[in-house]
Amino acid sequence: MYQGRDTMAILLNNVGYGNAPWRNALGELLPDDVVLTPEDAITPDDVEFALVWDHPLGDLNRYPNLKAILLLGAGTEHIDRETYLPSVPVVRLIDPDVVMEMARYALYWVLHFHRGFDSYQAQQAAQYWHRHQVPTASEFGVTVLGLGQIGAKVAAFIASNGFRVNGWDAAPKSVSGVETFSGADALSDAFEHASVVVNCLPLTMQTHHFLNTHTLSLLPTDAVLVNISRGDVIDEKAVLQFIRQKRIKGAVLDAHSIEPLPSTSALWQHPNVWITPHIAGATKAQSAAKIVVENITRIRNGEAPFPQHLPPCQQFMTKIDVASQS
Ligand code: GLV
Repeated sequence: MYQGRDTMAILLNNVGYGNAPWRNALGELLPDDVVLTPEDAITPDDVEFALVWDHPLGDLNRYPNLKAILLLGAGTEHIDRETYLPSVPVVRLIDPDVVMEMARYALYWVLHFHRGFDSYQAQQAAQYWHRHQVPTASEFGVTVLGLGQIGAKVAAFIASNGFRVNGWDAAPKSVSGVETFSGADALSDAFEHASVVVNCLPLTMQTHHFLNTHTLSLLPTDAVLVNISRGDVIDEKAVLQFIRQKRIKGAVLDAHSIEPLPSTSALWQHPNVWITPHIAGATKAQSAAKIVVENITRIRNGEAPFPQHLPPCQQFMTKIDVASQS
């Protein structure tokens, strides 16, 4: 019973980014629902949905009537650390507005390096007037790593701006306007013409340090790496070493192994490393809450929410279920 109403509740726990904007947005979209944050008095039996980001691990097992876990971001590395979860859908937040912001962020850097704005910046400091020849956009190669919900849109958007785009994923995928490659053996082909590599691979056990001394050595020496995923998908030390040795041209890093990037990190200092503080696609409660509410409505109507994610502990539980039935 909440505020005199006999109703189930939505738990909201957006650790690190604040609950207030979400509470307001949800209040407008779901005026008949009760939204509770950890400071409120919560009766575990009454929690129907959990809307969480970086929640305390283990907490989601306290709610016996939970129908779904709705993440307040796209990344799944935090929930993937859970060793046990109730067998309810885990739903990622893919907000098309945020995905387009990420695609524009990536395009900005593609344009930056295509037109040589980095060189003109250095030339201005030296008051040096010199025009560079640039390849046409269709000759300028961009490789997008990861063709999931985000990477596929990023690749298609850059391609729609006239660039020559290759896309790589562990599994075969097809994306309009993009030449796609799959599997470890195809990575060097996917990198062949890459002047810019945009990393959209999610951080999982398989992708930890995916860009390491071996995979970086497959890149052309004029390639710039743009990381809009998670810091640990790349081996930051190896990237810096490759830049220093001029085995790649540089790196634009929006995601970092430790955030905020420590002041002691050598990445801050290198002129061919461009740092932004994880802003490529910031989630805004006003638009994102609509996506979350659409999924709540789907579940209440008996439909499947989208897109679902199966954390490793649920995969393990599924295997046990299958084994016990066979
Ligand atoms: C942000 O980095 C997210 O995963 O949504």
